[in-house]
Amino acid sequence: MNNDISEVLFNEAQIEEAANRLGKQITKDYEGQKPLVLSVLKGAYLWTADVIRKIDLYVDLEFIKISSYHGGVSSSNEIALVTDVQSDVKGRDILILEDIVDTGQSLQFLEDLLLSRGANSVRVATLLDKKEGRKVDIKADYVGFDVRNEFVVGYGLDYKGLYRNLPYVGILKQEIYS
Ligand code: PRP
Repeated sequence: MNNDISEVLFNEAQIEEAANRLGKQITKDYEGQKPLVLSVLKGAYLWTADVIRKIDLYVDLEFIKISSYHGGVSSSNEIALVTDVQSDVKGRDILILEDIVDTGQSLQFLEDLLLSRGANSVRVATLLDKKEGRKVDIKADYVGFDVRNEFVVGYGLDYKGLYRNLPYVGILKQEIYS
């Protein structure tokens, strides 16, 4: 599996440092509140596990599953809600945890959904921010790393369901998907 990667962009130590940095900032910003951490499956599962342990606050944890890439290399324009949250989001301060914000369409979809259900606030903490990919005008509140416009996998991010278990984020060799 490691041979399919052309370049490691962010290794385990760098990711841990980013989780620490964001966790500290989130702890500060949400002082006195009990945010609802909303992890976006599947990609954000590892990032969620790491960041949530760096947040020194009472938090609720929920999962939601949406789909946009359908296993490929580029985002489709259609977002589907696959598995919904289990609790009421009305009046809650929601912190979405994402592995990547690319076109921004998934995040826009989630924000619209949560606000339409009466969430008090919605922010996002993303491991990766691919600003060049944006199709909608939306910004991430907390960013682990900016990434250039390359297809990255690992640490939750997949290609056709694979590579999520790599402990780092790396660029997938073009020959694998072309
Ligand atoms: C990925 C990622 C984000 C979204 C970002 O999910 O986890 O949710 O795409 O892309 P966008 O900004 O262009 O909308 P994906 O649909 O691949 O599902 P997965 O997390 O289950 O792999």
